[in-house]
Amino acid sequence: MEIKRIAVLGAGQMGNGIAHVCAQAGFEVKMRDIEQRFLDRGFETIKKNLGRGVKKGRMTQEEADAIVARIEGVLDLKRAVEDADLVIEAIPEIVQLKLDTWKEVDGLAPEHAILASNTSSISITQMAAMTKRPEKFIGMHFFNPVPVMKLVEIIRGAATSDETVRVIEDVSHRLGKETVIVNEAPGFAVNRLLVPAINEAIFAVQEHVATIEDMDKAIKLGLNWPMGPLTLADFVGLDTLLYISDYLFDEFKDPKYRAPSLLRKMVRAGWLGRKAGRGFYDYSGEQPTPIKL
Ligand SMILES: NC(=O)c1ccc[n+]([C@@H]2O[C@H](COP(=O)([O-])OP(=O)(O)OC[C@H]3O[C@@H](n4cnc5c(N)ncnc54)[C@H](O)[C@@H]3O)[C@@H](O)[C@H]2O)c1
Repeated sequence: MEIKRIAVLGAGQMGNGIAHVCAQAGFEVKMRDIEQRFLDRGFETIKKNLGRGVKKGRMTQEEADAIVARIEGVLDLKRAVEDADLVIEAIPEIVQLKLDTWKEVDGLAPEHAILASNTSSISITQMAAMTKRPEKFIGMHFFNPVPVMKLVEIIRGAATSDETVRVIEDVSHRLGKETVIVNEAPGFAVNRLLVPAINEAIFAVQEHVATIEDMDKAIKLGLNWPMGPLTLADFVGLDTLLYISDYLFDEFKDPKYRAPSLLRKMVRAGWLGRKAGRGFYDYSGEQPTPIKL
């Protein structure tokens, strides 16, 4: 089966990045969100990111314009998916919202279409069970920022067929990405390791083992991470991090996945990281400065 048309659900941080790389690879893309202002914001980000490529001489302005022209912004779900060969969903990480959306999409998308979720943690098998085509349902986990990050983690649910895996591997490679195939398990492969690692850094700060700055410096320079774990936590969003921690803890029932009380307190205070202007760092000045704990 050949994939030509891709519907991307959600024009947020991940959705606009996914639409961007799909259009850049030559697919016809429909990007769907629930309000025009979210679509506008998605297109703005895509244009800004392509503009950087033009400035660096990686592509011409005409090529960038052609990529944007291959993406149609859509508000109506039926219109978004009715002729899609592949639907990639990147809507908020809320279980009931995803389950309801997939049920609806299953009734509107062509029978042959493959359905893929970009979820960070929610069970692929549980979402697939909302559809009449669980063998065509799969996890396609991109990383942020999508145009830059090289990996797509492909997740097999209980019923995902070999053919579906093969097609999604092929599409991911056409997007210029490397792939790993993992069997469904909470946190898949990457977040299973990353989330407890970031949490351990928060525990260390909470226990005054090191300051926020020194913890970041230690891991950045000692382990050669591109950024320290607390900077990364702010980048991911502390609410998202807490959500995934709680999910891993609930699923595994293993205390090694428990969230630090400091993380929970910060989320309750609304200090959600970069997007809120404050997390482990304060982003109101020219340079991020560590907050006082
Ligand atoms: N942020 C990350 O680093 C990251 C990384 C990998 C995977 N993910 C996953 O990607 C998904 C999206 O995350 P995000 O960071 O892009 O969130 P986001 O909040 O930036 O974007 C979500 C978008 O979905 C829209 N939306 C809400 N309901 C919708 C619907 N029914 N149909 C279409 N659009 C709808 C929202 O208006 C919003 O624009 C989540 O499942 C998240 O776990 C996020």
